[in-house]
Amino acid sequence: MKTQPYKQDTGKLAYKVGVTLDRFIKSKQQDFPFATGELSQILRDIALASKIVSREISRAGLSDVTGSFGQTNIQGEEQQKLDVVANVRFTRALTKGGEVCAVVSEEEDLVIDLQNSKGKYVVAIDPLDGSSNIDVNVSIGTIFSIYRRKTPTGSPIQEQDVLQKGSEQVAAGYVLYGSSTMLVYSTGNGANGFTYERSLGEFFLSHPQMQMPADGGIYTINEGLTPYINPNILSYLEGCKRKGASARYIGSLVADFHRNLLKGGIYLYPATSQAPNGKIRLMYEANALAFIAEQVGGAASDGTKRILDIVPENLHQRTPIYIGSKNMVSGLEKALSV
Ligand code: AHG
Ligand code: MN
Ligand code: MN
Repeated sequence: MKTQPYKQDTGKLAYKVGVTLDRFIKSKQQDFPFATGELSQILRDIALASKIVSREISRAGLSDVTGSFGQTNIQGEEQQKLDVVANVRFTRALTKGGEVCAVVSEEEDLVIDLQNSKGKYVVAIDPLDGSSNIDVNVSIGTIFSIYRRKTPTGSPIQEQDVLQKGSEQVAAGYVLYGSSTMLVYSTGNGANGFTYERSLGEFFLSHPQMQMPADGGIYTINEGLTPYINPNILSYLEGCKRKGASARYIGSLVADFHRNLLKGGIYLYPATSQAPNGKIRLMYEANALAFIAEQVGGAASDGTKRILDIVPENLHQRTPIYIGSKNMVSGLEKALSV
């Protein structure tokens, strides 16, 4: 049979749409620590749920999804309706995907056993980060960590499957519902960012091999906390100001982290006299972002050690966190050691 090559040079007639998340995941599958396709499926499940959540969020204000759900979570925080919606969407997608055996969520007191006897993975998730910003139309996010279970598949879930150090993550990432919706993830070979094209219903690679500047001109802290924090941190911040740094604080960790990743900066949520472990939760906020930070050349510390080296003792434990540009984080650690 006579054949002809496909003529690719039709750029002017039909511009290229770029690399979809699905194709990217597939092309990178061999780089995964366990290249069986299961981790790829989990990333696809998370992407699917994030598209649904993005749709729900974009209707906030029109449909009845804003405001309080009327219950508090284990942290004693009031759950917003969208916290609950996002929790359902992600948990359901991970259940149906079949690769995950257990989920740790900010919105659930205990570990959720998904009863997937074949599932080899554990996911820790903050389904909706920055809940206080939902009702005021400000960027919010989702944060996720993926671990491989330690005990044999099919056996009951044990503490050792769940309470793993951040350095054991096989993949992690976040979704930012901002001026556009973006998904950033890493499987330990750098981090890549994808922007959601709503009309096509697809994420496209928009930020390949992301890199965080080693230094930056932004400091990000809730300055209302200053009477309650270690004065050495205040001296550090004074130093930033003298160098001309700007203050930026959104109050959604994902959004604050993402901006600092792109522009260079440091995010601080220190211990305070009222909250000696700070506010940010280790398992479903700090670890995933610390993993991404290190993958893009940044750093994440609790003040004295790597966030990723902390051995968790319980699901909802908190940690002080200093995360962002490498030199800024080491400068902060130095200031704390004085
Ligand atoms: P969540 O909405 O998941 O409970 O997380 C809120 C977190 C984090 O996103 C943000 O950086 C921080 O809380 C803001 O805390 P303050 O209001 O104390 O500044
Ligand atoms: Mn959060
Ligand atoms: Mn949350």
